Amino acid sequence: MKIDILTLFPEMFDGFLNTSIIKRAIDANIVEIHLHNFREYTLDKHLHVDDTPYGGGAGMLLSVQPVIDCLKAIKQADSHVILMSPQGPRYTQKKASALTRFDHLILICGHYEGFDERIRTYCDEEISIGDYVLTGGELASQIICDSVIRLLDGTIREISHQEDSYSSGLLEYPQYTRPYEYDHLVVPEVLISGHHEKIRKWRLEKSIEKTYHVRPDLLEVYPLTDEMKQILDKIKKEDHRK
Ligand code: ADE
Repeated sequence: MKIDILTLFPEMFDGFLNTSIIKRAIDANIVEIHLHNFREYTLDKHLHVDDTPYGGGAGMLLSVQPVIDCLKAIKQADSHVILMSPQGPRYTQKKASALTRFDHLILICGHYEGFDERIRTYCDEEISIGDYVLTGGELASQIICDSVIRLLDGTIREISHQEDSYSSGLLEYPQYTRPYEYDHLVVPEVLISGHHEKIRKWRLEKSIEKTYHVRPDLLEVYPLTDEMKQILDKIKKEDHRK
């Protein structure tokens, strides 16, 4: 996969691109990432890339010319163009998975209060990473890159992302590693029992319990099996008694 990122602050990507799994994926040619500072495309003699809104109002808007001239220089027939913006639909694991199907992503990061509306005409979609406003799209674009790259073949073991919270639709069950005891906190007995069926059931129960308490909205859309429905009923009854 190739990812081009349009940003006024390429230095914000230094740590992200040069660390851990993302660095390894780049070194292994699983993904190619290029940063483009669209200030280099501005025709403004003072190198401005923003301006005041027509009709008045507070704040500055990103101008269409530098952003779209930069986009036109890198866009190809197979490019999928995404605008990072708090006004887009909220990002999900399902969307991350869908984005892996593109060979070429272009992410446009805004800064300042907003965009000239005409920028949207050149984008295939708009994505928000959550219901809050950041100072710019750079961190948001890193979140998109990170969550997509880790799903690409060869980045990490496939089994580990199949078990992710959200990829199954439920939150993950609790996990433990050595030591058996720390500060009087011990590992649940069932996990050292060696009894695979009991472990499977315990994990499923914990996963449903956690989802019920933290993200009940996920359970409303999850296709529950009969076994899961029984577990959920039990959790609800116990909850009622408290
Ligand atoms: N830019 C500013 N806030 C954002 C958000 N929540 N998601 C994506 N891009 C943004």
